[in-house]
Amino acid sequence: MDFAETKRKKPNEPTRVIAVINQKGGVGKSTTVINLSAALGEMGFKCLDIDFDPQGNTTSGLGIEKNQLESCIYNAISDEIDISEIVMPTDAENVYLVPATMQLAGAEIELVSAMARENILKGCISEIKGEFDFIFIDCPPSLGLLTVNALVAADSLIIPIQCEYYALEGVSKLVESMRMVKRRLNPDLDIFGVLLTMFDTRTTLSRQVADEVCGYFKDDVFKTIIPRSVKVSEAPSHGVPVTVYARMNKGAIAYRNLAKEVVKRAY
Ligand SMILES: Nc1ncnc2c1ncn2[C@@H]1O[C@H](COP(=O)(O)OP(=O)(O)O)[C@@H](O)[C@H]1O
Ligand SMILES: [Mg+2]
Repeated sequence: MDFAETKRKKPNEPTRVIAVINQKGGVGKSTTVINLSAALGEMGFKCLDIDFDPQGNTTSGLGIEKNQLESCIYNAISDEIDISEIVMPTDAENVYLVPATMQLAGAEIELVSAMARENILKGCISEIKGEFDFIFIDCPPSLGLLTVNALVAADSLIIPIQCEYYALEGVSKLVESMRMVKRRLNPDLDIFGVLLTMFDTRTTLSRQVADEVCGYFKDDVFKTIIPRSVKVSEAPSHGVPVTVYARMNKGAIAYRNLAKEVVKRAY
């Protein structure tokens, strides 16, 4: 457990467990997990990213070679190993990772017959929770049992919304899933913030979508908007956050501003 040696920035505060969720693919969930945690890490906050998507984009985006892994989050939720054994350091300062591989895809089906099947991820996280200031869960693009596990394990949600056509499509279904989990399984669950991503300043469409999202989610929407930037999309192929790959890029700066806003909302 070498991660235990790194100090937390706010050891007396409860750990914030935040699921980054939207059942739509390609809206910026993994990108947000990687870059928000990297920006918080720069500020001295000790972060853990839990990759909970079988596609493993957060894992590869943080420079981890998936086919060289012996175990991943799948083995922890299957009770084969302790989650603490698969926490790994990354090249981003103060950012640790629990990786995912395609193996996790099988869990969606296997969990169906498990006891207390909605609470399994929460149980795993409880073993290491106190070691971190922030834990981010990168959700898969569905509202299946893996996502329900994330909704039960989290205190709150960050919902990335891409500034594109049909941005709000499916959002009411997402909010309904959140309310159902809140009623039955996790009464304290709340929205931490709604994040506008891939904003294109050259189009009026982006502005329209932003207005529409603000009309729906009101004050839950972060003031910080993440712009579309080629560097942001290039960074994962170099296995580092954009905050490392292109320090002063507009996307890197936006994620640092987001981190400041997150800290303000958290404490
Ligand atoms: N701000 C951005 N600017 C440009 N490309 C982005 C930005 N955010 C995300 N992307 C790209 O969009 C794609 C989808 O993002 P990703 O974070 O993987 O979405 P999700 O996890 O929701 O499926 C990826 O190729 C990613 O590199
Ligand atoms: Mg993803």
